[in-house]
Amino acid sequence: MSNFDIETVRSQFPALANDQVFFDNAGGSQTLGTVIEAIRDYLSRTNVQLGASYKTGKLSMERYDAGFAAGAKYVNAEVPEIAFGASTTQLLRNVSFTLEFDEGDEIVVSSIDHEANIAPWVDLAARQKLVLKWWTPPLTSSDDASNTSINAQLSPSNLTPLLTSRTRLVSCTHVSNILGNIHPIASIAAAVRAGPSPNALVVVDGVSYAPHRPIDVRALGVDVYAFSWYKVR
Ligand SMILES: Cc1ncc(COP(=O)(O)O)c(C=O)c1O
Repeated sequence: MSNFDIETVRSQFPALANDQVFFDNAGGSQTLGTVIEAIRDYLSRTNVQLGASYKTGKLSMERYDAGFAAGAKYVNAEVPEIAFGASTTQLLRNVSFTLEFDEGDEIVVSSIDHEANIAPWVDLAARQKLVLKWWTPPLTSSDDASNTSINAQLSPSNLTPLLTSRTRLVSCTHVSNILGNIHPIASIAAAVRAGPSPNALVVVDGVSYAPHRPIDVRALGVDVYAFSWYKVR
């Protein structure tokens, strides 16, 4: 890595000037001063009705559109594909309320996910009388000199036996907030596309991945990718 000055980086986060250590990741990260300023400026100067024809309305809309364009660029998506919301929990719940499947259709839900990407699908299955299949990867353990770590890897090979011609949705995490390993989402999505239900929706929780690595939803080949901006700085 080239020269970077940690004090300069820290100085961009006003909260770090406090006599406080913040250990809450991924409960939410501290906010950049430039972001705080941008929000303050928007609310102070251009917080008017979106789509209005007067000057301040146009300026407000421009800033709003710029936010969507930045969001789309960040994940390599198109602007109409972006939805902002209060939290990943809320957004995944919203997605689940837009879907309608037939009784007896199947959904596959990873059992190593956060509740945010489990509860909406369990409820959807109950509401629409779907078959809920749990995707539970085998536990593995590895040892080094100082500790033993337990892990579980989602993979095309442990997903494929669950896929049938009635699969309508597959949901899983990119990185579990408990286990921390990265799951091969592009290969998992490719396995769904090559399987008996190529149009099944692939829904991914990227909350624990997004703060650490760039996201390219095109390369991943998924239908829904959700994460929490307030945890990414
Ligand atoms: C892996 C993972 N997914 C989803 C969530 C839910 O995110 P939010 O609290 O923004 O709804 C969390 C919260 O920490 C999480 O760790």
